[in-house]
Amino acid sequence: MKHHTLLMPLDMHLHLRDGIMLENIALLSAYSFSGALVMPNLVPPVRSKEELLAYKARISQAVGMEAADEDEFEEIGEFSDNGGFEPYMTLFYQNYDKVFLAEIAEEITAIKLYPAGITTNSEGGVKNFDLNEMRPTLEAMAELNIPLCVHGETDGFVMDREAEFMNIYDALATNFPKLKIIMEHITTKAAVEMLDKHPNLFATITVHHLLMTLDDVAGGMLKPHLFCKPIAKRPQDRDALLQIALNAHPKVMFGSDSAPHPRDKKESCGCAAGIFTAPIALQLLCELFDKHGKLENLQAFVSDNAQSIYSLCPEFKEVILAKRPFKVPEDYKGVVPMYAGETIGWAIEDVN
Ligand code: NCD
Ligand code: ZN
Repeated sequence: MKHHTLLMPLDMHLHLRDGIMLENIALLSAYSFSGALVMPNLVPPVRSKEELLAYKARISQAVGMEAADEDEFEEIGEFSDNGGFEPYMTLFYQNYDKVFLAEIAEEITAIKLYPAGITTNSEGGVKNFDLNEMRPTLEAMAELNIPLCVHGETDGFVMDREAEFMNIYDALATNFPKLKIIMEHITTKAAVEMLDKHPNLFATITVHHLLMTLDDVAGGMLKPHLFCKPIAKRPQDRDALLQIALNAHPKVMFGSDSAPHPRDKKESCGCAAGIFTAPIALQLLCELFDKHGKLENLQAFVSDNAQSIYSLCPEFKEVILAKRPFKVPEDYKGVVPMYAGETIGWAIEDVN
């Protein structure tokens, strides 16, 4: 059987939620990833040092927990008390003063900017991109070496939202050349083209945007579990994403944007945006990179590039994957994953 080993996989865009959901799903990421960049879009969002440290403590508690129901985790292998998972914390962007930023800099890996109302729990985000108003915060971030992660969508027509945001990336990257800017979960050829325009621009890509187009979401029967923001785009967009991911372009990193919602919030007449991929992301990536004969580039895409871009030193973890059929569970504690009930081509064999 063909095997492939990944060292210290990192998920550079993850929604871990809070409360029961956090307790139910955090272990699934902690099992196979060395660390993850944790999104701050809680209700209310993470905006103070107290909130941030308290949230980090709740995450650490959730990943330190023994699996309550061992059967649930049988599918993903033997479960140990997994200490080797680092939650890299983010703060929700608003204009902050430099004193506050200097005080919190050691506790955070990045600050995440959401345009107001553009996605789940982003109501408190940025209303208009007035760079002069944002200048003191962004200059302080550049000085303190705090990267800015951006959900890059306008409120325009849904298929054009990301492309329309390119002007804003251009302006941010030009005006703040020392600020590291990460274009989160890019979905378009336009974003791929933007990446090399500025040395201070980087990007994350999800596994679902490498696999799907809008056809998979809405071309036949509507698939609520494949609905997310930004929505999957055209074949030529997906091809552009595949090109840079499969070749492990040094400015791109894997970020799952795994965004769990309870089943009733997805299978609903107002379906919440978000695809749950955390427990199957590495298996899907192995299958995809293998299919394209690019397995040797997966290590850079799932870890090495992120380590250099963010200057991270994750603890040792080795994930051994095998090319054998794996039936994706129908749900993980009530959360339906991508490809639920379907059989994929790679499985996790062991984690050390
Ligand atoms: C995310 C969520 O549910 O928090 N949803 C999504 O569709 N990706 C928010 C986000 O990253 O846009
Ligand atoms: Zn997200």
